[in-house]
Amino acid sequence: MSSPTIVRLGSIKNISDFESRLRELKLNIPCDRTLASAAKSSLRWPLAKGPFRIGNRIAVQPMEGWDSTADGTPSDNTVRRWRRFGQTGAKLIWGGEAVAVTHSGRANPNQLVAAPHTERGLAKLRSVLIEEHRRITGSDEDLVIGLQLTHSGRYCRPNRHDRAEPKILYRHPILDRRLKLPSDYPLLQDSEIEQIIEDFHRAAAIAAKIGFDFVDIKHCHGYLGHEFLSAYTRDGLYGGSYENRTRFLREVVEGIRSLTPELHVGVRLSAFDTIPFHAQGQAPPRNSTERPGRGVPDTIDAALPYRWGFGLNPSKPSDIDLEEPIRFLSSLQVLGIHLLNLTAGSPYYNPHIQRPALYPPCDGYLPPEDPLEGVARQIEVTRQLKLRFPDLIIVGSAYSYLQDFLPYVAQAAVREEWVDCVGLGRMVLSYPELLWHASAGSDIERKRICRTFSDCTTAPRNGLPSGCYPLDEHYKNCDLGERLRLLKRP
Ligand SMILES: Cc1cc2nc3c(=O)[nH]c(=O)nc-3n(C[C@H](O)[C@H](O)[C@H](O)COP(=O)(O)O)c2cc1C
Ligand code: SF4
Repeated sequence: MSSPTIVRLGSIKNISDFESRLRELKLNIPCDRTLASAAKSSLRWPLAKGPFRIGNRIAVQPMEGWDSTADGTPSDNTVRRWRRFGQTGAKLIWGGEAVAVTHSGRANPNQLVAAPHTERGLAKLRSVLIEEHRRITGSDEDLVIGLQLTHSGRYCRPNRHDRAEPKILYRHPILDRRLKLPSDYPLLQDSEIEQIIEDFHRAAAIAAKIGFDFVDIKHCHGYLGHEFLSAYTRDGLYGGSYENRTRFLREVVEGIRSLTPELHVGVRLSAFDTIPFHAQGQAPPRNSTERPGRGVPDTIDAALPYRWGFGLNPSKPSDIDLEEPIRFLSSLQVLGIHLLNLTAGSPYYNPHIQRPALYPPCDGYLPPEDPLEGVARQIEVTRQLKLRFPDLIIVGSAYSYLQDFLPYVAQAAVREEWVDCVGLGRMVLSYPELLWHASAGSDIERKRICRTFSDCTTAPRNGLPSGCYPLDEHYKNCDLGERLRLLKRP
């Protein structure tokens, strides 16, 4: 396989050259040539659908910080991040960050937990966000705030950042190997799943008590909710048929509806997937300056069909197949769910489709394609699903790699109704106000634009909190910044 030619976006100087590059790559990404004034910008259009009134089209994606205390309470860094979520001017805050429904379901020992002892801390996150949002926009009218609830399933690491304690639903021929699971590693029993569903109910009741407008029942990125959707090979009540694989969501929603009927529900979904990727060749020694290899798909030992991925073609697993995701969106409507956030794949096994980046994190691989292709793939799938489900409020993901061109694409994507709200992930860590500035006709501070250096992932992979170490002075200049520099030094 020959290496792809990747043109650094920072070297593309204007919209015409950006459009030429898109043509060269045969990518369909909508892009406006100028930014409209606040009165006309599509990013400032209000949205009214179902029970929701959302004041503009800017959304903040959930961005976890690996920075809670050992018992799952927010730290000062967590509070600071949520304050910065408020600084975005976004009227839709999608979940804040992944909050575990129970200690054993945490993805790392510093993940937030929704429990009675953390209630005050979680309430503070919401209140500082609202305070900051009011300061920036002048009002908290039509501001919708959710809390993302999660169980980390295969990626549980509740006690040590370097010790996996996976809870798996089925045997996966590639991911089990990566996690070094013995062949008799136990699967989660149906009775344990029922317990986890009750944990979701309890966590949702806490979110409702605090005043969150909705909870996101996370179904993405390889965590437990997402793994249910691909549990084709599992026996029992929660695997096999489509009905069984979606039972978890139905039972979580039923409980929430009966315990806290005023609380809305949303779902963040990895709408498509692909085979796990790894870096080609030998991994460079820890802390060396050598770059990892380019990403290549893992070899599948088992014969096709590939039965371990949701939203892919089992006969050709590198291809997207939206048949089941479409069925899933219809099921959301039947359940009375209006809020959907589309993402893809997983940060653990195919990050290039999930969060396109030029520079890999320490455990990643060099991009196997121009990262613009990853952006275009998510934008296109979102367009197709939006066209089919006009009544759902759909948030799109993976725009940060667009860098300087992000505001032009975001404005066009909303104006052309390819998506309802543009969700910002990494860009919120480096430059929270980007779309608020862009949609007001203010100058854009280019030095603050996320260049996808991936330190916000490299840091937590090494047990440090996340943050934009290269561009946010708070992280760059403190002891944490020095620790990350030492870790990366050869
Ligand atoms: C440091 C970091 C933390 C993240 N935390 C979460 C999270 O808590 N929940 C979630 O659903 N996605 C999480 N994501 C994924 C982002 O929400 C988003 O989907 C991804 O970064 C792609 O969007 P972007 O291109 O705007 O960054 C995280 C990503 C990063 C880099
Ligand atoms: S560390 Fe900063 S620049 Fe790098 S990807 Fe994260 S937010 Fe972007």
